[in-house]
Amino acid sequence: MSYFPIPGSQNLHGFAFSYLRPEHPQMKQKPLVIWMTGISASGKSTIADALAVELRAAGRFTYIIDGDSVRNGLCKDLGFTDSDRDENIRRVAEVARLMAESGLIVIVALISPSVASRHYARSIIGTDRFVEVYVDAPLDTAESRDPKGLYKKARAGLIQNFTAIDSGYDVPVFPEIHLKTHELSIEQSVQQVHTWISSAQTDFTDSDSVRPASG
Ligand code: ADX
Repeated sequence: MSYFPIPGSQNLHGFAFSYLRPEHPQMKQKPLVIWMTGISASGKSTIADALAVELRAAGRFTYIIDGDSVRNGLCKDLGFTDSDRDENIRRVAEVARLMAESGLIVIVALISPSVASRHYARSIIGTDRFVEVYVDAPLDTAESRDPKGLYKKARAGLIQNFTAIDSGYDVPVFPEIHLKTHELSIEQSVQQVHTWISSAQTDFTDSDSVRPASG
């Protein structure tokens, strides 16, 4: 049977696409979603960029989904209330799931401040592919970096609901990787994540390459 009912949806039936079968011939890598969470200016985008360059140089297929860029397109209708952030994270998780399904190692750089929303993202993507990376910088370090001048504006009351100023950030409890970016160089952070990704590839077999997500 080529169709299956989609739970929770009426009159929708997913087609069981055979091209997504495990024996995908080309992309011999274990698809992953490297989910970078941390406050603004913690180093997420910088590390994501350097990591993507290194992964590509190593012959891996990768793509970055970055908060600032999706908020210019896919999520341009969303702001920074708790519910808008939840919706932002849900959309990005769904897109990342699709990209991983196509075989990519997807790097997500999103503040994703609440533990519940990160849990939800993990459940969308699947726990075997979701790698939570806590990009950790103390608030005073992030605030002193302030590359976009946003902390200054938030302190002056010109921006509301700013993460770690007047909006919360839940510190990850059991991230797969914890990067203390005030103690590590960018290269050291990248290395730590790259090593993790490489070790996840050691038990890679063709059957890991691409398979449809359940649900
Ligand atoms: S999230 O909370 O929904 O995950 P996301 O990562 O997409 O946030 O967007 C964060 C980026 O939006 C920041 O890097 C910053 O440039 C910008 N920004 C604008 N307003 C805010 C705000 N109130 N809180 C946090 N970031 C903001």
